[in-house]
Amino acid sequence: MKFVHKPVMATEVAEALRLKDGGSYADLTAGGGGHAAIILAGSTPTGWLFGCDRDGDAVEAARERLAEFAGRFELRRGNFADVAQWASGNSFDGVLLDLGVSSVQLDRPERGFSFQAEGPLDMRMDTRQAETARRLVNEASAEELARIFWEFGGERESRRFAKAIVRDRAERRFETTRELADLIERLSPRRGRKAHPATKVFQALRIAVNDEIGSLKRGLAGAFEVLKPGGRLAVITFHSLEDRIVKEFGRTRARDYVVQGEVDVPELRVARKPDLKLITRKAILPSAAEMESNPRSRSAQLRVMEKI
Ligand SMILES: C[S@@+](CC[C@H](N)C(=O)[O-])C[C@H]1O[C@@H](n2cnc3c(N)ncnc32)[C@H](O)[C@@H]1O
Repeated sequence: MKFVHKPVMATEVAEALRLKDGGSYADLTAGGGGHAAIILAGSTPTGWLFGCDRDGDAVEAARERLAEFAGRFELRRGNFADVAQWASGNSFDGVLLDLGVSSVQLDRPERGFSFQAEGPLDMRMDTRQAETARRLVNEASAEELARIFWEFGGERESRRFAKAIVRDRAERRFETTRELADLIERLSPRRGRKAHPATKVFQALRIAVNDEIGSLKRGLAGAFEVLKPGGRLAVITFHSLEDRIVKEFGRTRARDYVVQGEVDVPELRVARKPDLKLITRKAILPSAAEMESNPRSRSAQLRVMEKI
């Protein structure tokens, strides 16, 4: 199957990264290679791209998509949390993170990301890792499941859903996405709501299985390290939990002081030089036209920072 991922906020990303001939860029979520192609086209003829993705299928798809730029890029399969181990400091003029799953991961039932189609309860972006949604759903305690649903999905019924799963699994194992989605739907019928009642549970499990929050925190620090001074970091998030982390990362490093301890007491602040400049104080949202033509873009937010 061919990847047909439509890059979100392509124009805004190209502007944010100030693409130029001879520039050196990193796309740390290469996915289907949509943004990567835009970066290479925008830095023609000699711009260089380092791309990575945890998903082996994505790396292959990106390689195919970028064939016309052969000789100008390198791709690697791995977690962007490790980027500072692959590249030396001050290497790139621009780094992009376009978080979350690609539509192709969602569109392939066998990957288990979607509750719309029957598939194994898997949800691993990197199929080499041990943790799966199946293990969590069948083995995690009710407390752990409730915490995941609440923290990573903001699911108000987290405890009720978690208890029901644990009760049900005394009788059977959950093997498929539909089995889990059906249980949630029985507990919480749609009653005219727009989103499927299992949306938050699935998002939460995916974030937990892939340690997306831990990876993002390490990835931001690593991305910043490999940027050259004056280089730009552009991050697209798809839910508030991620956006909060990116916003906080930017704010903390843009300050000209360090907070001592847990609470910010102005008298105890220690002065220092800021590490970055916020290029966007508020997140940039997709245009109305893009939201109309690409529903996936509707929850996207772009933040841009510059290393000092
Ligand atoms: C929204 S898609 C990116 C699409 C891409 N920008 C394009 O235009 O085709 C997100 C991709 O990031 C990858 N990903 C998510 N978290 C990752 C991580 N921690 N390390 C590496 N890749 C990750 C996913 O596997 C997925 O392919």
